[in-house]
Amino acid sequence: MKIRLFKPSLGDEELQNIKEVFERAWLGLGPKVAEFEMEWSKYLGIKASIAVNSATAALHLALTAYHFKEGCKVLIPIITFASTATAILYNKLEPVFVDIDENTITMSLDDLDKKYTKDCVAIIPVHMGGQPVLMDILMEFAREKKLAVIEDCAHCAGGEFKGKMLGKWGHIGCFSFEEKKCMTTGDGGMICSEDEHLIQPLREYRWIGIDKDTWKRASKYTDSVNIDARHWYYEIAVLGYKYNMNDLAAAIGLAQLKKLDSMNLKRSHCIKRYLQGIQNCKHITPLLPYDPDKYVYWIFGIRCKMRDPLIIYLKSKGIATGMHYMPLPLHPLLKPYYKVPCDTGMKIWESFITLPLFADLTETEIDYIIEALIAFDAKY
Ligand SMILES: Cc1ncc(COP(=O)(O)O)c(C=O)c1O
Repeated sequence: MKIRLFKPSLGDEELQNIKEVFERAWLGLGPKVAEFEMEWSKYLGIKASIAVNSATAALHLALTAYHFKEGCKVLIPIITFASTATAILYNKLEPVFVDIDENTITMSLDDLDKKYTKDCVAIIPVHMGGQPVLMDILMEFAREKKLAVIEDCAHCAGGEFKGKMLGKWGHIGCFSFEEKKCMTTGDGGMICSEDEHLIQPLREYRWIGIDKDTWKRASKYTDSVNIDARHWYYEIAVLGYKYNMNDLAAAIGLAQLKKLDSMNLKRSHCIKRYLQGIQNCKHITPLLPYDPDKYVYWIFGIRCKMRDPLIIYLKSKGIATGMHYMPLPLHPLLKPYYKVPCDTGMKIWESFITLPLFADLTETEIDYIIEALIAFDAKY
């Protein structure tokens, strides 16, 4: 048997939507992107959404919305994907690493208070693996200190905390639709906010700084009612980026969005099976305090002191594994910003292993993985 770590769940619905885009023969930034943005806003129950080509781009632009002064500081958890930090560097700001809570591996709110200094301007909490940060407490802290909050929701599309969708708690929410995530557009991301005025300028920033919608301009080329020789005119007033989502990606996204809740439910079912399967293991424990009836998770991870032998054992059985994530200062690019210790994060990651989890993982595959885990556990 060979079992992948992640696998997107794709079918006829996506193909049908792609066909529609082919028939219109408009593949770039166009009406499908606008439709996907509208459907996403509806799904989340949020005022405005802007589709981009990745969550990396989303995080970069979300910080750009504030025009923070160069050198200001942004608080992020020490364990997350590099993009949470590179978004800060793209904006010529400085990351400040906050230690993680040993149990949830999300940003420790005690340490957040300790790492805060007057030159901090924003926090980017990450709902690691889908485990929600305690956003009610975090938002209260941010309000007191007048900090912007950009939620990194790369791992939790469709997730909620205390009855409110993740991505709506902060001032801006950023999602990832990269191929492995809860839902996919191939590559893609979304910026959303209740504050339309805050993110509206980002429409230009994601489109090279152009102040007009090309799809709308193009549809007027041959409009005999609208007699305008300068229909081609646009201006660029800001240094933008080529960060737009395209219609092909949005077409996939529209089909995936319809299935998001059911894909999340299927992953929750797999997690329940895993939790039950490993409950008597002595050396293997769940990575997170999983509560699959309440939260949406992107990864199923475990902790095991014999991490490397277990990875090799699972590999010998055809079971793929991963590791999410190394602490950021272990990357040479980010090491210079590690100024105040984060002892928990720097230590506990060494026992983390990520196991296969995706909506189409079969019962037989889960049984096979659990069997392998139990066999390994019994050997020690
Ligand atoms: C926490 C986190 N933030 C941001 C990103 C970036 O997402 P994308 O690949 O869509 O740029 C990722 C990607 O895995 C991530 O895990």
